[in-house]
Amino acid sequence: MAVPTTLMDIQNSENFRTNEEPKFRSRVNKIKVGRIDLGEVTPHNIKLLRRLNQVIFPVSYNDKFYKDVLEAGELAKLAYYNDIVVGAVCCRYDTSDNSRRLYIMTLGCLAPYRRLGIGSQMVEHVLKIAELDDALDSIFLHVQVNNDGAIDFYKKFGFEIVETKEHYYKRIEPADAHVLQKTLKKGRKSQKSGEDQ
Ligand code: ACO
Repeated sequence: MAVPTTLMDIQNSENFRTNEEPKFRSRVNKIKVGRIDLGEVTPHNIKLLRRLNQVIFPVSYNDKFYKDVLEAGELAKLAYYNDIVVGAVCCRYDTSDNSRRLYIMTLGCLAPYRRLGIGSQMVEHVLKIAELDDALDSIFLHVQVNNDGAIDFYKKFGFEIVETKEHYYKRIEPADAHVLQKTLKKGRKSQKSGEDQ
């Protein structure tokens, strides 16, 4: 198969069409894992982000979402596997509930590239941002109640189900969402500088 080189090639490629997730990836396969990089979202690749999100998520995101993402800096990243765009993470700050939290709006990767550590790399990026911001109380996100894979994935990083919102989604079934949250330790910076002394 020809190597995809243009945006259209990539969008039309098998990776974007198949929604089949690898059921089992052996240790041997993981050892052969390719290079994972995270890159900026820019006006030049925002269409690719839009296409990725359309393929990965059952929910669609509006123009404002993508306009805000372009201003989000480190809070939005594309994930590359051997230089091919295969996933993305988009976050924003949330200051409701009298607290400053980081909200993961979307985090996902194309089905054929799952269980290769790409999602973990994106979460670790988010955790690193949170680690550097002492004013943040927690990181949270919504996930459809039947998305067991994603729930297991986030639990690995210390997220817990703190609430279940009925009828959270308008156009998909099941409509209920769990709120997954990871509480950040207070005084992270001072703890760190204490350790360094
Ligand atoms: N079932 C059980 N455990 C899982 C699963 C799964 N489907 N996926 C990941 N994990 C756990 C495993 O412990 C895995 O380690 P292992 O492969 O050594 O067993 C570990 O998480 C790390 O997995 P990664 O390879 O880093 O994760 P991946 O790149 O596959 O991404 C993700 C996980 C993002 C959930 C992916 O399945 C995906 O894109 N799903 C579709 C979109 C989605 O549901 N996103 C999340 C909800 S929405 C939101 O985040 C706001």
